[in-house]
Amino acid sequence: MQRTKIIDLLRSEEIGLKVRVMGWVRTRRGNKNIAFIALNDGSTIHHLQIVAELEKFDEETIKRITTGCALQVEGRLVESPAKGQPVELAAEKIEILGEANPESYPLQKKGHSLEFLRSIAHLRPRTNTFGAVLRIRHALAFAIHKFFNDKGFVYVNTPIITATDAEGAGEMFRVTTLDINHPPRKPDGGVDFSKDFFGRETNLTVSGQLEAELVALALSQVYTFGPTFRAENSNTPRHLAEFWMIEPEMAFYDINENMDLAEEFLKYLISYTLEHCMDDLKFLNRMCDEDLINRLENVVQSKFERLTYTEAMTILESSGLKFEFPLGWGNDLQAEHERYLVEKHFGRPVILTDYPKNIKAFYMKQNHDGKTVRAMDVLFPRIGEIIGGSQREENLEALLDRIHELGMNEKELWWYIDSRRFGTVPHSGFGLGFERLVQFVTGMSNIRDVIPFPRTPQNAEF
Ligand code: 4AD
Ligand code: MG
Repeated sequence: MQRTKIIDLLRSEEIGLKVRVMGWVRTRRGNKNIAFIALNDGSTIHHLQIVAELEKFDEETIKRITTGCALQVEGRLVESPAKGQPVELAAEKIEILGEANPESYPLQKKGHSLEFLRSIAHLRPRTNTFGAVLRIRHALAFAIHKFFNDKGFVYVNTPIITATDAEGAGEMFRVTTLDINHPPRKPDGGVDFSKDFFGRETNLTVSGQLEAELVALALSQVYTFGPTFRAENSNTPRHLAEFWMIEPEMAFYDINENMDLAEEFLKYLISYTLEHCMDDLKFLNRMCDEDLINRLENVVQSKFERLTYTEAMTILESSGLKFEFPLGWGNDLQAEHERYLVEKHFGRPVILTDYPKNIKAFYMKQNHDGKTVRAMDVLFPRIGEIIGGSQREENLEALLDRIHELGMNEKELWWYIDSRRFGTVPHSGFGLGFERLVQFVTGMSNIRDVIPFPRTPQNAEF
């Protein structure tokens, strides 16, 4: 007999059906005549109740059925007298596939703290909360591909090992096969990277954007969805050293069309989860964050507020509030400033444009004022910056001027600069931090709880 998933059983409600299920025990309770076993197989947040009449089974087997152990059960679906579940399984045959010793299995009592669960990340997918988060994460990944596919975008894979620093922030993890204790040296004493694997210095990518631009200047509309790495020493609830980013890049788009796409994209993704993940969202709403579903619906329904960085700075300065990080034109905005604008001042998502060029990357299109660039950051409640993007500088001279002004190495970027030499066109794109999106949709307050095995400063366990 084939295995049936619990989600399908609970949906079918086919009374009398003989089935086989497999899963992990969440709880076992009962009395001397009967045992009730809550079984979960990860296909849904809901458990299947297994009812075992003890006279049909040997006592030793029943005793070994403890929280966390894996079972295979055959039996018939019967109507459930219990509230909240249409059917239960009257067990006829129970086989223990894997035991979980109650003395040492750490997931015994309910309500472990999220901090504790992080220390047992190898087991936390077995909790209701992480099951819900991981199913929603999957649904979002699927919806991202669906959104772009339906619009005719092409999914491109950009390199993970690169020699460039796309964002120019110097926050890179080095990739090398040199013996770090005895590296080959140049006459001046510096490390001789010409002897390294790639014959040059390489690192893990911080963004696939520069390569995505090259492909967009041929296929018009493309997107990446891959891992990115940042060696920034930020120990915050919104930063990971390894995170996934979605980067669409569109030829012939200006910054306004870029903002329109970003807004439509985010609303589509949130609506998709409201439509397809309601069981998990209701669970998270009940257990972790009672305003979650309300907040998601609000964002879908609201028009995002659009204003310039300069206008936002004026609003912040006239708020009269004392922020931890200083305000002032030219300073980068911190999460506290972003959240004030979104949560207190406007009460909906905000898109800020035209940032000072000195706090943004070299590739952004320069405005005529000589001070600002056509950047756009999308700011969300509780998250702050969820998307960063811009119109790109497509003019060869202006791009070269900026590269020189920043003291960057023009030679290393020859291929990027070439794209402005041949058939250059206005184009735009943005990057969505996947974990920040999952964080917003699940309501989890720490980004470490929306990726199975987080990478953060001083932590690469599992
Ligand atoms: O603003 P960022 O640095 O922009 C870029 O990398 C551009 N190349 C994107 C583009 O225009 N194609 O990063 C984009 C987004 C941020 O808005 C944020 O959501 C997320 O990536 N992000 C992080 N998420 C988790 N941990 C970190 N350390 C992150 N750094 C950025
Ligand atoms: Mg940014």
